Amino acid sequence: MKISAVIFTLIGVSSATSWGADCYDEKLDASGLLTANCDAGDGQGTRNATSIDLNKCFGWDGQKIADMPNGNYSESCTDCTLNRLVYRLPIYKKQVWMNCTCGEPAVDAALNTDRTRLDNVYGVLTC
Ligand SMILES: *[C@@H]1O[C@H](CO)[C@@H](O)[C@H](O)[C@H]1NC(C)=O
Ligand SMILES: *[C@@H]1O[C@H](CO)[C@@H](O)[C@H](O)[C@H]1NC(C)=O
Ligand SMILES: *[C@@H]1O[C@H](CO)[C@@H](O)[C@H](O)[C@H]1NC(C)=O
Repeated sequence: MKISAVIFTLIGVSSATSWGADCYDEKLDASGLLTANCDAGDGQGTRNATSIDLNKCFGWDGQKIADMPNGNYSESCTDCTLNRLVYRLPIYKKQVWMNCTCGEPAVDAALNTDRTRLDNVYGVLTC
């Protein structure tokens, strides 16, 4: 009983709004358009080609890239790339970071996009 409760808890934590675990082949262009193939959730591994304008999701708050509706981050940030970091401890997880140069004067900035409202909902990216 106890062990299964722990396992369910870990599964719940690791899958919480983590689009990076369900999406593949992600690409980000200079205008902020993210395209990816995301698991449609039909249990058969079907992937849907989906896209979202990340300007609707993120903004530059003067110090960091923030989870911000209609934040228009690309007006302040350039050279943005998506980079997967793999953690093995304490639980295995993949996270997709967005690394950019932002602000005036320009500084390096990074956002863990798996900790934001960006999510895969049955094969459609939303935020
Ligand atoms: C696939 O994604 C597109 C665009 O994001 C969306 O309009 C469409 O409904 C999705 N199709 C399925 C089967 O989820
Ligand atoms: C972002 O751009 C949209 C469209 O140009 C605009 O409606 C919105 O007010 C802008 N948001 C911010 C925070 O500047
Ligand atoms: C992106 O930012 C994260 C967090 O600061 C960092 O660990 C990672 O090395 C960066 N990746 C690249 C390619 O700059």
